[in-house]
Amino acid sequence: MLKTSAFFIGFSILFLLVNTSTIKGQSVQQTKGLKDYYQNYFPVGVAVSPQSLKNADQVALILKNFNSITPENAMKMGPIHPEENRYDWKDADSIVAFAQLHGLKVRGHNLCWHEQTPDWMFVDKDKKLVTKEVLLQRLKSHIDSVVGRYKGKIYAWDVVNEAIDDDSTKFLRNSLWYQICGEDFILKAFEYAHAADPDAVLFYNDYNTERPEKRERVFKLLKKLIDQKIPVQAVGLQAHWSLFEPTQKELVATIERFASLGLKVQVTELDISVYPWEKNKRDLRAGESDTFTADMQQKQTDQYGMAFKEFRKYKKVISGITFWNISDQYSWLDEYPVKGRKNYPLLFDQQLQPKKAYWEVVKFKNSDTK
Ligand code: GLA
Repeated sequence: MLKTSAFFIGFSILFLLVNTSTIKGQSVQQTKGLKDYYQNYFPVGVAVSPQSLKNADQVALILKNFNSITPENAMKMGPIHPEENRYDWKDADSIVAFAQLHGLKVRGHNLCWHEQTPDWMFVDKDKKLVTKEVLLQRLKSHIDSVVGRYKGKIYAWDVVNEAIDDDSTKFLRNSLWYQICGEDFILKAFEYAHAADPDAVLFYNDYNTERPEKRERVFKLLKKLIDQKIPVQAVGLQAHWSLFEPTQKELVATIERFASLGLKVQVTELDISVYPWEKNKRDLRAGESDTFTADMQQKQTDQYGMAFKEFRKYKKVISGITFWNISDQYSWLDEYPVKGRKNYPLLFDQQLQPKKAYWEVVKFKNSDTK
């Protein structure tokens, strides 16, 4: 009996020892995430929803890989300020509380945009468009409340989002902001944000900024703001890219062009769609497939590899990279702009496992930087 117990205890100890070392071995391998590989470069962030922060698997992935988060929708004007005298803080608060609990940075997104704006913002009680004075007053009050609430907890704000027109022959987008205020809404939004939190880094944020014609229009806007001493400190390249663009040359030219204004550059909404860029909503066409092919996988790996190589080179200018969504399990591109079409734009697959592109992004030696 004694003999059996001694054998059993001995065996258990041996089992524990072997197992711990295996667990240790695994944990050494597995604890390193994107943020660790890039700790000498820039924070690596991800756009999140309150729902994703309640899912244990997603939380584990986030905490392992990212040291910054952006609310995907929760701080947009529509969700957070649905009626003139009512704010809905619940979702935004829960995201900021998560970040505080885990020591993550937060990028605020966003304060002034032509989409996801509540209808009441632009009209009076008779549904007539309000005057410029009223609209700017509403914008100020919105910015004071939102930026003020998270002062000291949000280090950077996308102040104005997507003010440049899609038509390359035009300059500013003909949004209701523009129709009512002219370009003053842009200047004012930055001034209000700066007054509400002088320490927050203020961004102008837009997409297709690597296309030469769009880049130049964004440049023109930023130069104008800087010349007028408007407090804008950084530019956000949304980086909703694809297998087909941008080229390495376009990306480098973009980073250098904006850096020449003395601005910091962040990649704020990175994903690499496996389909060419489209904007207009449409249905899936007959015969159109949405399979993630080996060829797509390779091209995506190359495109991510190219982009991060340049990000590393320009680490002095680039102050952060943020992915738009966590994994291919869910991306806003699954439905947009083609209804019912699955996309695979991120570094983690539908099972939350690192893709080939992930390994390409973390495979580097600490190299020379500009
Ligand atoms: C733009 C906005 C984001 C988001 C994406 C789609 O890039 O800046 O907030 O809405 O579109 O998810």
